[in-house]
Amino acid sequence: MRIGVYPGSFDPTTYGHTDIIERASKLVDTLYVSVLHNPDKVPHLTIEKRVELLKELTKDISNVIIEPFTGLLVDYVEKKNADMIIRSFRAISDFEYELQLAHTNHKLNSRVETIFLVSRNEYAYISSSMVKQIHKFGGDITMMVPKQTLDVLNQEQH
Ligand code: COA
Repeated sequence: MRIGVYPGSFDPTTYGHTDIIERASKLVDTLYVSVLHNPDKVPHLTIEKRVELLKELTKDISNVIIEPFTGLLVDYVEKKNADMIIRSFRAISDFEYELQLAHTNHKLNSRVETIFLVSRNEYAYISSSMVKQIHKFGGDITMMVPKQTLDVLNQEQH
């Protein structure tokens, strides 16, 4: 049994994220999509909403489990008995941060491997904060996020 963890803030989930989830789910038997609950940060969407949205978006992928997590990622990975952390690169600008994350996690727990998937070209420009900013000012984000994400962002605005 191969178990993977795809961690992130998912604030909110974009097509970039759903693409990685779909592709990563084919590489493992079970994929945990693990939503960071960071008590030191105020997210745009609550942890409950981010988890609920991801559950809705992945309901047709049978081996995906959506969960919130808090604390150290390596501790969570250990608890899940996972073999690998899955992260993605959109551009070379992601590289330094991801490298640091992977090295840090490896220092904290040498058993854990980090696997990278390269973002598809058509999603490589998307980021959650840009999505939030464009939506806030009334711009069109339909090419960046699934309809369910747009619905949740619209509800937040009212
Ligand atoms: N497509 C679209 N967007 C993508 C993407 C993709 N394939 N891959 C990353 N992104 C974007 C996200 O939308 C987000 O955009 P934003 O900065 O505009 O909001 C950005 O990349 C990074 O977000 P995310 O992937 O969610 O990572 P993060 O930096 O918020 O969180 C964790 C990374 C959760 C893995 C890390 O913070 C963590 O492990 N925390 C737990 C504490 C811990 O263990 N610390 C020690 C290790 S450093």
